[in-house]
Amino acid sequence: MGRLSVNVDHVATMREARKGREPDPVTAVQIVELAGADGITVHLREDRRHIQDRDLFLMKDIVKTRINMEMAATQEMLEIALNVKPAMSTLVPEKRKELTTEGGLDVKSKSGLKEYIAMLHQGGIRVSLFIDPEPAQVRAARKAGADMVEIHTGIFSESSGEKEKVEFRKIYDAVRLASKLHLGVNAGHGLNYSNIKRIAQIEEIEEFSIGHSIVSRSIYVGLERAVKEMIELIRVYRGRY
Ligand code: PXP
Repeated sequence: MGRLSVNVDHVATMREARKGREPDPVTAVQIVELAGADGITVHLREDRRHIQDRDLFLMKDIVKTRINMEMAATQEMLEIALNVKPAMSTLVPEKRKELTTEGGLDVKSKSGLKEYIAMLHQGGIRVSLFIDPEPAQVRAARKAGADMVEIHTGIFSESSGEKEKVEFRKIYDAVRLASKLHLGVNAGHGLNYSNIKRIAQIEEIEEFSIGHSIVSRSIYVGLERAVKEMIELIRVYRGRY
């Protein structure tokens, strides 16, 4: 059964548009869990453009499922993670000017990652690396001591026709390789109610991290229904490939 971890950053983005109190991502978390999601994903960015420290610390107290904390591999984030103790930290590259995470972490060339991962492990936190679907990155993630990888599905999500097929194949091969190397496998970025039908077919993917499409749909149908509909799609299309 593929798990769904809902990224609530986009709720905080709307709040930050007015720098007010609504909508509160902490309230969203409770609805997401009631709807049956398996986890909550939050990205505490260095520039705090959406999720704030206060959100994360409140979630630490109320989340009943699991927190996946997306973060840049910095000293500041390490200290916060060791304090919050999420079930999992997903290390992502971060650029100040990007609208959203643009690509996977270049694990191959990033120095000090092994030591950074070891410090999170000492705090009892599982570590996932957000990577592009490339064999060399999967192997580097294994070497760095990660528990899991999150395969970046963003390029696939933006493709169509022949390119979409090529990108799907890259994801499939990366997932298979990661699984063969005994890494857990998650997937995310740009997944929506349409392309999830294809990605959910890859049985080795344990968890899907999805935010924008769910929060967007929630404006029309409500958050609970938006989450339930995604859970149902994952269930129906699971393992068909
Ligand atoms: N996974 C990672 C590493 C991300 O950075 C994001 C975006 O915050 C997501 C998953 C969720 O992507 P989306 O909001 O496009 O569903």
